Amino acid sequence: MVDRMVDMSVKIGAVTLKNPVMPASGCFSTDLAQVMDLNRLGALVAKTVSREFRAGNPPPRAAEVEGGMINSIGLPTKGIDYFLQHQVPDYKRFTPPLVGSISATTIEDFEAMRRLTCLKSIFPARRAIPRAATSPSTRSTPIMS
Ligand SMILES: Cc1cc2nc3c(=O)[nH]c(=O)nc-3n(C[C@H](O)[C@H](O)[C@H](O)COP(=O)(O)O)c2cc1C
Repeated sequence: MVDRMVDMSVKIGAVTLKNPVMPASGCFSTDLAQVMDLNRLGALVAKTVSREFRAGNPPPRAAEVEGGMINSIGLPTKGIDYFLQHQVPDYKRFTPPLVGSISATTIEDFEAMRRLTCLKSIFPARRAIPRAATSPSTRSTPIMS
């Protein structure tokens, strides 16, 4: 019999993913484990968090258009402390590396979040991948990720 297994692994910095499939930030929570095996993904991607609570944009935040949808969510978040205490532990049920997404409007906030995540060893360097928030709904705000 012919072995049809293909090596789909990719290397990003020091991290090796078993395949390049990872969800878009903010569109894919751990609740989806109820309908699919999340361990088949190359990586899990968390929703973007900022240092403090952010309400995000007022509704309507999403609208259906011909051929798709447009959204203006505004990166709502309960903040980095909630993320580290409640969400990261939940991700530990799964085997793929977790890609964290942090955003800030000042260099100080960005550095504080980077320090917090490193100090707590939540993202050991070997398993950490930085990502840039892509949300177009925050373009008017100086967001750095
Ligand atoms: C409900 C919703 C929440 C999102 N939250 C985030 C987010 O927290 N951080 C981020 O960088 N992008 C966020 N996005 C943007 C998506 O990650 C993605 O970039 C966007 O949907 C475009 O995907 P596409 O390039 O595959 O069309 C969000 C999108 C949606 C629809």
